[in-house]
Amino acid sequence: MLHIDIITVVPELLDSPLSHSILGRAKDRGLLEVNIVDLRKYGIGKHYQVDDYAFGGGAGMVMMPQPLMDCIEDLQSQRTYDEIIYMAPDGEQLNQPMANKLSLQKNLMLICGHYKGIDERIREHVITREISIGDYVLSGGELAAAVVVDTVGRLLPGVLNDETSALFDSFQDNLVAPPVYTRPAEFRGWKVPDVLLSGNFEAIEAWRYDQAVQRTKTRRPEMLEDE
Ligand code: ADE
Repeated sequence: MLHIDIITVVPELLDSPLSHSILGRAKDRGLLEVNIVDLRKYGIGKHYQVDDYAFGGGAGMVMMPQPLMDCIEDLQSQRTYDEIIYMAPDGEQLNQPMANKLSLQKNLMLICGHYKGIDERIREHVITREISIGDYVLSGGELAAAVVVDTVGRLLPGVLNDETSALFDSFQDNLVAPPVYTRPAEFRGWKVPDVLLSGNFEAIEAWRYDQAVQRTKTRRPEMLEDE
């Protein structure tokens, strides 16, 4: 069972993407537990303030350390976290090996930034890892956190019905996935490759591997250079 707490000021953004399809099944099967924590509850004063102006001036608000720390410590009093992760565009870029490693953990905390981000002292003293989902800026960390939960959640043993299928995903062996086809065998005159209809399992495997290598060469050549 993997437990993930997500700290956010916009909990509504996370409800829907994490409740359906494969992740919904992971939760139903008791393999994944996702707890969305509304940071506003830890806000200061009668307006439950969570952000303030940046020291030194400039546009944009910064998330204050106190509400975040209160929230983090409250969660830490309930469980021990393997990682306290801050979603940030300048973090380490998410990839398949990172997702594989995270899927082996027990308790993760994901913190979603808003506005100009969170006070640097929290990043320096409390955060154990910073993850970006790509070189572009989102309006908050929530969609990035949803991406992390999705890619990690589907790797948990028992989540995918075909136990082996995650092993054949793109990127799992430094290759992108081969093309796939379903019925009908001929559609508008476009035919499925004969080998896939041959029933010859070895030939099919060889064809798929070859296709994966060819595709990786043409679409993602840098993946083959990494080795
Ligand atoms: N927050 C804003 N942009 C982000 C990104 N690209 N990855 C992770 N968190 C973010």
